[in-house]
Amino acid sequence: MDTSFDMFIETIVPHNELIISRTDLSGIITYVNETFAEISGYRPEELVGKPHNIVRHPDMPKSVYADLWKSLKEHESWNGYVKNLRKDKGYYWVHAHISGVYKEGELVEYKSIREPVERAKKVEMQQLYDKMREEEENSCRVVLYTSCDKAKEIEENL
Ligand SMILES: Cc1cc2nc3c(=O)[nH]c(=O)nc-3n(C[C@H](O)[C@H](O)[C@H](O)COP(=O)(O)O)c2cc1C
Repeated sequence: MDTSFDMFIETIVPHNELIISRTDLSGIITYVNETFAEISGYRPEELVGKPHNIVRHPDMPKSVYADLWKSLKEHESWNGYVKNLRKDKGYYWVHAHISGVYKEGELVEYKSIREPVERAKKVEMQQLYDKMREEEENSCRVVLYTSCDKAKEIEENL
């Protein structure tokens, strides 16, 4: 099951470093800088060649990415708040700026540069994304305290 205590541990993104990745036109990672690797908990070589959804967090509504890809297909850049999943199942918030990389006028790749998010904004976006997931996908996050026997029973029936 995709729930573990680690899911609730946040990695704080530093203010003084750029977090960069590039993908091919289908979203496969072609480059990450050391800072991206460190914050996501992977080694760079574990990320290159993988789809960028390797860091997708289940708290993120599908429509955010649909909006992102719609913008990119229309040759527009996209800005948005993203909660990402670390390799160890922890998470980190970024404000991402994603746009095309052009060579001699031709779109060849996409690039993303990210910056940290203030605490109040993270709270606001978490609430907004929770609401969007519920409305759009009928998807709710549940945190439950119960006996371990009952928890196992619930898990088996999921
Ligand atoms: C340059 C670039 C950077 C991206 N960065 C992220 C990211 O940091 N986290 C993320 O979940 N998706 C990111 N995406 C979007 C993913 O490609 C993907 O659409 C998303 O994770 C949702 O997964 P899905 O399309 O399989 O549903 C990025 C896409 C591009 C083109």
